[in-house]
Amino acid sequence: MALYSTDAGGALLAHALHSQVCMHADFGGVVPELASRDHIRRLVPLLRQVLANSACSVTDLDAIAYTQGPGLAGALLVGAAFAEALATALGVPTVPVHHLEGHLLSPLLSSKPPRFPFVALLVSGGHSQLMRVTGVGEYELLGETLDDAAGEAFDKTAKLLGLGYPGGPALAALADTGRPGQVKLPRPMLQTPDLDFSFSGLKTAVLVKVRELATISDQQRADIARGFQDAIVEVLVSKSLRAVKVCGLQQLVVAGGVGANRELRRQLDAHALAARIAVFYPELEFCTDNGAMIALAGALRLQAGGAGKLPGAFAVRPRWPLTGA
Ligand code: KG4
Ligand code: ZN
Repeated sequence: MALYSTDAGGALLAHALHSQVCMHADFGGVVPELASRDHIRRLVPLLRQVLANSACSVTDLDAIAYTQGPGLAGALLVGAAFAEALATALGVPTVPVHHLEGHLLSPLLSSKPPRFPFVALLVSGGHSQLMRVTGVGEYELLGETLDDAAGEAFDKTAKLLGLGYPGGPALAALADTGRPGQVKLPRPMLQTPDLDFSFSGLKTAVLVKVRELATISDQQRADIARGFQDAIVEVLVSKSLRAVKVCGLQQLVVAGGVGANRELRRQLDAHALAARIAVFYPELEFCTDNGAMIALAGALRLQAGGAGKLPGAFAVRPRWPLTGA
């Protein structure tokens, strides 16, 4: 949850995050019912916390932004109901926000933000897309994954290697101890002329490698993790830079949980420098899901001339393409 002020060019006044990772870890993944019940418990304390941290009162709120979708219906409903109820009580408008728009605009929270237009690589647990971003609300889909998202591929491969939830960071840490070039995996769709991705075959290739080995040593497991990460990073870097060139632009924004991956950042920085492309990342804390990016997206929508919505009736959109937002 976050408070964002549009005064003086815009500033994040306070933000707080309650992670449910520990709660879900015992189950090896997100349990939707537990997630939404825990949302109910956390919202009021989080609101109190951000108000206290910013020395604001609830009556200082001019509008309330919340995630309308896409995502788990139960969790979305809790957030939407809370925001709409609070806005009704305060008599202020609401701004239902697309979750991916929050990720897409999150680098604007940093001290050195990109300028419109730019290309964005959105790599989260549920999405892998390349977007041309011309302005707030002006998004053109350039390419996307045909099957698994990059984060999903990290999570599933981590599971195959016996790592816990969440898999992405655990697999990345293991890959650090792996030897480069020891395990060679395919680079799916690297050479295709489009800007699409496909990651499900990579996970299957890892499964085949694991099955080939009767027993697997720690070093072999790390080498496989390294081979997987190198393959996925090479494809993401190549297609992202190609997208920037195709659009005739000079800026690339990387957003979503996989954007926290250090090897992806290293390789992107190196290749972008050679191609004279500037790469922008959100601060690490704003890479994975957070309230600050939703507050920012809501504020920018209002600033761009949106009046917000009358508080009260609402609907959530568990499935919602960004280009239709
Ligand atoms: O954007 P996000 O926090 O939530 C969604 O909207 O999905 O992304 C979560 C995804 C998960 O799949 C997680 O494993 C992955 O981002 N992730 C990473 C890293 N940190 C998070 N994947 C690779 N390397 C990381 N360091
Ligand atoms: Zn997300």
